[in-house]
This record gives sequence, structure tokens and C-alpha cells, in this order.
Amino acid sequence: MTDKYAVIGNPIEHSKSPQIHAAFAEQTGEDIEYGRILGDMEDFYGDVRDFVGAGGKGLNVTVPFKERAWQLVNERSEQAKHAGAVNTIIVLEHGRLRGDNTDGIGLVRDLKQNHGFDLEGKRILLLGAGGASRGVLLPLLQKRPQEVVIANRTESKAIELAGLFAEHGHVTGVGLDHAHAEPFDLIINGTSAGLSGKVPSISGGCLKPGGWTYDMMYSDEPTAFVRWGLEQGAAKALDGLGMLVEQAAESFFLWRGVRPETVPVIRLLRP
Ligand code: ATR
Repeated sequence: MTDKYAVIGNPIEHSKSPQIHAAFAEQTGEDIEYGRILGDMEDFYGDVRDFVGAGGKGLNVTVPFKERAWQLVNERSEQAKHAGAVNTIIVLEHGRLRGDNTDGIGLVRDLKQNHGFDLEGKRILLLGAGGASRGVLLPLLQKRPQEVVIANRTESKAIELAGLFAEHGHVTGVGLDHAHAEPFDLIINGTSAGLSGKVPSISGGCLKPGGWTYDMMYSDEPTAFVRWGLEQGAAKALDGLGMLVEQAAESFFLWRGVRPETVPVIRLLRP
């Protein structure tokens, strides 16, 4: 019987996940069906229960339900525990739910596997101290960068977030206006400023010559942060499409035990 999976979020109509997982299934020959669910803002738990009750095997969870999914699951991976959010639910025996978070692995894999960027020993500036930044911190720190500086508009949140990860590496929190002390090898945008076409206001000169920028968001046109990176002279100014496909591949692996090829799928989405 065909196993059923889906992505749940609100809004959901523009999600690329069904297309990505359909491509993975075709490529690997796995017999799965992958749909999309418009989650009820008032009854996310009910939606998950219904899906599992109907035999669903796993869910991807997206905005704004990742924290609620974290609360709901019966057990959590290390990544999920640290991220404070769940983007992948695995349905275990007897309807038990396991929560994982593949966003950070997706970011790290896109940088390393697809673009050859080695995080070890690098100075990284992470913009934003919300869920998107928290979700990627553990996998970033596990690659042993020299330092991660979290810079946030609201400084106290950056300091608090850095404190949560202090035992995993050299990580500090500052206000956006203090992000320029010494230039960085990589600047990652984890803020939601791009949703309104904006870029977090950091001073020029934060990026080392030859440094890279990475926007965790993506769009068919270059995002505001990609344009900013190019203006700063970034050697590469990437957006989050590769991260999206890589996090999906990791979810697929967790569900099916098979690792799909990601490069052809990234090409399919942006030829
Ligand atoms: P998400 O889960 O997508 O990270 P969030 O938890 O609401 O969403 O966090 C949004 C992040 O983007 C925050 O770090 C926010 O800064 P504040 O903590 O100061 O609010 C940041 N952000 C949003 N709009 C921004 C803007 N125009 N300039 C700079 N930072 C912005």
C-alpha cells in the first residue's frame, strides 16, 4: 500500500515540498504519496491526529506550527530538542510521534556539499534570534567554526539565544549595530525582514573580502538579502532553495531510510 506523507502549514498553497518529495519518490522508486494540509490555526493537534488516524506515516511541519509540533510529539531527536521546533514528524508504532528538525542539517549540507563551503575555523555572523536562527545553531556549531556571532535587532534575544548554545561552541549575542567589530567569512540571514522586502540594517564592511552571504529564505527572483550580499562584494550570495531541498532530503531519509540525490531536484526547481 502507498505510504502517505504531507506538509502542514498555514498558508500552504505555495509550498514546494510536494514537488520536491514527488521528485525524490520518482528518483528512488519509493512508493509514497505526499500531499499538503492547510493547518487549522485553532486546532493543529486535531489535524495531526486526523492525518495519523487515516494511516499517515509522516509530516513536514512549516510556519507557524513548528513550535506546536515540538510540544505535541512523544519523543524528540537531539536536533529537535535544541532547535525548540520540529519540522519533521515520524509516525512510529501505535501512533507514537517522533519529532526531528532537519533545517540546520539542510543549511550545512547545502553550504558544504553543494557549494564546497567549509565551516570549520570560520567566523560566522548569524542575523536574527528567532526560530529560524535557533533551528540551525546546533548543526552550525557542530562544524566547529571559530566563532558564531548572533546579531539581532533586539539585543537581549541574541544574548539569550547565545546562552542556550554556549556549551556547544564559541557563540556570542550582540545588537545589530555591534556586528561590525571584525569582518566575517559568512553572513547568514535568519531574520524575517525579507518578508517585507527589507534587509536587517547592519553596517557595510562586515564581510571579509571573498566572504559569502546566505539567505535562509528563497524566491524565484534574487531576495533583498541576496542583492545586499552582491552589493557587499560577496564571492557567493546564496538563497535558501538548496537548504529547502536538503532539509527535505533529510526528512525523506528519516522516513524511508533512502537518501535521494538533491542536485537534480534543485535544478528542477530553478533550472
Ligand atoms: P522566525 O521563526 O522566522 O525566526 P521570529 O521568531 O518572529 O520568526 O523571528 C524573526 C526574527 O527576525 C527576529 O530576530 C527579528 O528581530 P527582533 O527579535 O528584534 O524582532 C528579526 N526581524 C524581523 N524583521 C526585521 C527587520 N526589519 N530588521 C531586522 N530584524 C528583523
